[in-house]
Amino acid sequence: MKKQRTDYRIISNQTDVHENCLSIAKKHRDTVFQAPIPGHQLDLFNQIVNQLPDESIILDSGCGTGMSTDVLAKQFPDKVIIGVDKSSYRLSKHPRFKEAISQTNENAWLVHAEINHFWRLLLESNITIEQHFILYPNPWPKDIQKRFHGHPIAKTLFSLSPKTVMRTNWEIYANEFTLVARDVYALICEKRIVNDSEPMTLFEKKYLENNEPCFEVVVG
Ligand SMILES: C[S@@+](CC[C@H](N)C(=O)[O-])C[C@H]1O[C@@H](n2cnc3c(N)ncnc32)[C@H](O)[C@@H]1O
Repeated sequence: MKKQRTDYRIISNQTDVHENCLSIAKKHRDTVFQAPIPGHQLDLFNQIVNQLPDESIILDSGCGTGMSTDVLAKQFPDKVIIGVDKSSYRLSKHPRFKEAISQTNENAWLVHAEINHFWRLLLESNITIEQHFILYPNPWPKDIQKRFHGHPIAKTLFSLSPKTVMRTNWEIYANEFTLVARDVYALICEKRIVNDSEPMTLFEKKYLENNEPCFEVVVG
């Protein structure tokens, strides 16, 4: 008989929002993130910009196998959806992913790129990101400075789009993300439990099948 999992809530020993969450996020807000962007990431970005139709973009960051990119393409047929992930292994599980920039639907592309660079290039280019989905980012349970809201990239993230949708199965991550968006970047946030009839991603499917609650934070 399959053993019932009982450990799914124990993502980290951290029991509440990290005590340094706000101070770390404020420090990053008040400094300039200057890490160099590698030439090949810039070339890739320019290729994408040249290929894309001139429409509003919906960005699916950390899209993994591209399941959510397909879901969004159906949900927003008149928008351009770009799914980005740094794992060629995960991207290659999508049947239409062939190369670093692959058109997978009439209105959707999958891109093999590092989002920390990609977001900065998007922001500098003034391309409009109508909505930004970040679905089940790596929670980095032991290191808040690797979580998006605790990293210097947070300033770019919270400036990139008027609407950001983040989902996670770790409520503390959702609470930290909300705290930083609200108290450091003065943005409006709403948190809810995900109760959609169909999962948007493979991780979400796995969590919901395990009866684990998933949390959504909408910023903006
Ligand atoms: C936990 S998985 C979630 C995948 C998918 N969103 C889902 O819910 O099934 C996190 C994904 O983010 C990607 N990722 C993490 N950091 C990234 C980065 N800096 N640049 C691009 N992709 C990244 C990983 O490769 C991985 O596919």
